[in-house]
Amino acid sequence: MDYIKAKKLLEKYGQQHLLRYYGELSDGERAELLSAISEIDFSILSCAAADGKKGVGKLSPADAMPLEETAERFKEFYDAGINAIKRGKVAAVLLAGGQGTRLGIDAPKGTFNIGIERELSIFACQMANLLPVAESAGEYPYLFVMTSTVNDGRTREFFKQHGYFGYRSDRIHFYVQRTAPAVSREGKILLEEKYKPVLTPNGNGGWYTSLKNSPCGKILERAGIEWLNVYGVDNVLQKICDPVFIGATLLSGLPCSGKVVKKVSPEERVGVLCKENGLPAIVEYYELGEEYKSLRDNSGGLVYCYGVILNYLFNVAQLDKISQKPLPYHFAEKKVSYIEDGVKVTPESPNAYKLETLTVDLIKLMGGCLGFEVERRKEFAPVKNMTGTDSVDTARALLIENGVKL
Ligand code: UTP
Repeated sequence: MDYIKAKKLLEKYGQQHLLRYYGELSDGERAELLSAISEIDFSILSCAAADGKKGVGKLSPADAMPLEETAERFKEFYDAGINAIKRGKVAAVLLAGGQGTRLGIDAPKGTFNIGIERELSIFACQMANLLPVAESAGEYPYLFVMTSTVNDGRTREFFKQHGYFGYRSDRIHFYVQRTAPAVSREGKILLEEKYKPVLTPNGNGGWYTSLKNSPCGKILERAGIEWLNVYGVDNVLQKICDPVFIGATLLSGLPCSGKVVKKVSPEERVGVLCKENGLPAIVEYYELGEEYKSLRDNSGGLVYCYGVILNYLFNVAQLDKISQKPLPYHFAEKKVSYIEDGVKVTPESPNAYKLETLTVDLIKLMGGCLGFEVERRKEFAPVKNMTGTDSVDTARALLIENGVKL
């Protein structure tokens, strides 16, 4: 793309400021800027603005399979699940493309050392939960790790350096998710250098499309994988390829399922399983209105009580059917450094929006979802912040409570 074309394109979308420093740039920097501009999908800016205005539909509460039922049918579920793993029908997908801005480390979040007296990365912690499942099944489920352009090299290197945490290395494959521009509150794309727009990972919603478009897509087909267990990097008690969860989902006949925990308070920052316009859906905490959030039943319990922990099982055939449908964009408020009047500004608090699609929005499209309640203190130890709520401190305490040596 040349300067004239770039200028025209930017004028169309009201983003001419991206060329503001063009006159000061070297030839190499000019080429880099024009190439970055040519790769941005500007249409998502207007889509995102329209999506942002839509809001959520009519909500009603959703049920989940209670802990008591799982306890009663444990063996039935376990057998069905382990059998599916043995037959190679299940693979895992680790969503590790996020930037972990709240944790504030300059490294992939999974490499963070949660250990106290020994080194124990978040990745190691999670792999220690997957390995025993593979060993009992006598079959190592494939693990597809989604990274971003920001952390791909360092993530691959970390797995390699740590001997793939004792897992079969030929069963672990990496792929990179796409990026989207970060915008100011006024909707202007930010520059991180005079020749470089801020491009950030475009949310975890595109995990399946990115997987299919990468060499991992071929592996998925060749291996005949029918179910994908998708999980987030930031829960150190995450049970991966949990046979009981898999079995319960298969026996339910539903095309997807999500692990849920009872929320501890109306304000807890987790997506909530509910029905939106009659269909199973998950609404993010920042989009759930006060009238729903705090609603209590006669016995004082929260009506919208089931929080998701980013651990889902998706049927691949159904994903293929819906993967052409676009997911809405969300504006995630984040701290983003940028150039203003030629000078780098590093904000102290959130100043910009990243454009993200979310996995929770896939649920609505899947056309059915089993909510599967799990014991909170055994399976949910989120690491979002360094201290305080959902932090390294709280996660360490829960790991210790679960017998993990730190
Ligand atoms: P979060 O919503 O916590 O985002 O991600 P984040 O970027 O990791 O952290 P903050 O908000 O900046 O502090 C939830 C899960 O989704 C993954 C993350 O790696 C995490 O497992 N994710 C998020 C992606 O894989 N890609 C993304 O673009 C965003």
